[in-house]
Amino acid sequence: MKLEQALPRIIAIDGPAASGKSSVGQRLAAHLRYLYFDTGAMYRAVAFLAWERGILPYDEPGLSELARTTRIDVVPSAPGDPRPYVVQVEGRDITEGLRLPEVEAIVSPVSAHPGVRAALTAQQRRIGLAGQVVMVGRDIGTVVLPEADFKLYLDASLEERARRRYAEYRTRGQRVTFEEILASMRERDRIDSTRETAPLRQAPDAVYVDTTALSLDEVFEHILHLITTRARNRINPKT
Ligand code: CDP
Ligand code: CDP
Repeated sequence: MKLEQALPRIIAIDGPAASGKSSVGQRLAAHLRYLYFDTGAMYRAVAFLAWERGILPYDEPGLSELARTTRIDVVPSAPGDPRPYVVQVEGRDITEGLRLPEVEAIVSPVSAHPGVRAALTAQQRRIGLAGQVVMVGRDIGTVVLPEADFKLYLDASLEERARRRYAEYRTRGQRVTFEEILASMRERDRIDSTRETAPLRQAPDAVYVDTTALSLDEVFEHILHLITTRARNRINPKT
């Protein structure tokens, strides 16, 4: 068996906000030539459209209908476009809207509704089962793709994660304070991990990596090493 054939077909990455899921997931996907799929973008798209259309975060029937009836496409961006992916809704590019503070504020309550999750999970599962995919989110290893053959749970302290997000906001020129980010992230963590349907949780068979004191390069190298070591052990099982 060749190394490529022994690599995991489906890689699931979960963890709280700014734990490094997207950065590591993108690098891993590029390295393995896999599809990178960010499920958070779909939840953000539903939250953005709800905000735009005045559907309130507690309107479960309205939000479920929106998630069920709207076609959300998360597609790799065109060559030369620095964005890792583009989110389209009926031909309209809504990618920039997904990181608005208005979306950040409602995305967790919107995502907690079982009807919203059922609609999006079904689409994500279909994409994931095709394989050669790195799928990133909160419930990928536990609910969306429990059969994933490599599961990773990334974590970092709340303060470190807020520092990372703050730096990103500053780079984009968005005016927010560190305290605002810290508070909104703490609240998002709370809602994401205590909701009844598909809460943020480490799958029992996931590898846990605390990235608080690690650079992106260090996290990436560590994970790549784990994946290739496992693949080599599949080819040449230790006796
Ligand atoms: O990038 P960041 O980690 O801050 O957020 P994201 O991955 O874009 O996810 C935004 C929100 O969508 C999360 O806070 C969750 O409420 C929700 N989400 C979810 O419920 N399940 C997923 N598989 C992915 C995201
Ligand atoms: O996808 P998720 O919200 O989990 O996190 P991310 O968007 O990959 O990372 C959030 C920010 O933290 C990015 O600007 C990364 O470059 C940075 N980061 C870091 O500085 N060190 C790490 N070990 C991981 C991420």
